[in-house]
Amino acid sequence: MDSIVVRGGNKLIGDVYISGAKNAALPIMASAILSDKELVLENIPNLTDITTMISLLENIGVECKSSNGRMLLNAKHINSVEAPYDIVRKMRASIWVLGPLVGRFGEAKVSFPGGCALGARQVDLHIAGLEAMGARIEIDHGYIIASAKNGLVGAHFTFDKVSVGATINLIMAAVLAKGDTTLSNVAREPEIIDLCHCLIGMGAKIENIGADTLHITGVPSLNAHRYSVIPDRIEAGTYMVASAITNGNLCIKNIKYEMVENLANKLIEVGIQLEESHHGIYVKGNGRFDSVDISTMPYPGFSTDLQAQYMALMTLGRGTAIVTENIFENRFMHVPELCRMGANITISGNNAIIRGADHLVGAEVMASDLRASVSLILAGLAAQGETKVRRIYHLDRGYESLEEKLRACGAEIQRIKGDAA
Ligand code: EPZ
Repeated sequence: MDSIVVRGGNKLIGDVYISGAKNAALPIMASAILSDKELVLENIPNLTDITTMISLLENIGVECKSSNGRMLLNAKHINSVEAPYDIVRKMRASIWVLGPLVGRFGEAKVSFPGGCALGARQVDLHIAGLEAMGARIEIDHGYIIASAKNGLVGAHFTFDKVSVGATINLIMAAVLAKGDTTLSNVAREPEIIDLCHCLIGMGAKIENIGADTLHITGVPSLNAHRYSVIPDRIEAGTYMVASAITNGNLCIKNIKYEMVENLANKLIEVGIQLEESHHGIYVKGNGRFDSVDISTMPYPGFSTDLQAQYMALMTLGRGTAIVTENIFENRFMHVPELCRMGANITISGNNAIIRGADHLVGAEVMASDLRASVSLILAGLAAQGETKVRRIYHLDRGYESLEEKLRACGAEIQRIKGDAA
């Protein structure tokens, strides 16, 4: 397994170009199943999660060709409706083939994704929504087996909890269902809006995009389409923190301010200078910064996917900050590792109390999930001496060319291939 070694202390200065959004690309790729016509996608990031989605789609017969961020998908000849455990276990987003498969073929067999590093991560809402649309669901030998012999029918479904994944699955299930579907209390992340725009381009009828109730009128089939995926706001936010924590001066390119507004407001509050221009978003550190609390919430609240990065920043804040994690019950795995680097953090329930330290020191640390891993890199960039982050395969799931992008701005960072786990 690879490791990354960072020698901290360099201010990051320069431009960072943001890649396509992983969490938009994955469901949009799955949406290709809904049509027997070609879907051409652009701005697809080069990540292992994308490769996993390609394997999953190819396994059921979708033709996938990709190069240089462009991908051609054609689901004309589907030969299986099964998503096997061997692929699903690598990536929870695999559950997104469930809605389109039942929607188009009236049947699907998808391995249960189960729990994972972030907590229990249920799929009850995905199942309840499909049942509301007339699917019969059985759980058998670790598989979700869904059938709707005469096709799905439109329904009114209210999510009793906001879920990104379940909203995505039910939107995709509804676009080919007979009649009208109303989905209430939906998640409203920009990646979901991006999926809706792509589906509309394919011929789907979706109204109220961006509101908390969506109306979908089923259509008999979808058309060929070409679509460019939005940039990755979480990657952008990560580099904004990288600039702040190294007292640097980065220009974050290819991202709209409103997509990172929540983090931007917090950075301004702690004392980081931000400026938006037609070149990009300039993020400039100016010595030490204050400690300010955050609380993660569904969009438009502060994203759970930026919590670990923000916490890395707060380890060096002037004062005490409380970070409250409201989305996942186990998303503080970076805490003990940050403490190994000299951070002063205590956990109480879903609160992490961070007392700002004078400095961090390099240490050997272990990556756990994607965002926890990158928070250790961020801490390493600011720490005195060398930090070695082990088991960094998680980073390759979600950050395109991380070392190259950081190195181009002055970071001392290198990957050690095949280092011990
Ligand atoms: C998506 O995960 C993202 N994944 C996550 O990003 C992100 O952290 C999360 O949304 C929240 O924004 C992708 O886009 C691939 P949820 P998802 O369904 O869909 C509970 C990253 O780092 N829940 O919104 O799995 C669930 O247990 C990743 O890029 C149910 O109870 O998240 C959790 O507590 C990690 N029943 C909460 O809802 C359900 O049926 C939110 O989960 C579904 C979810």
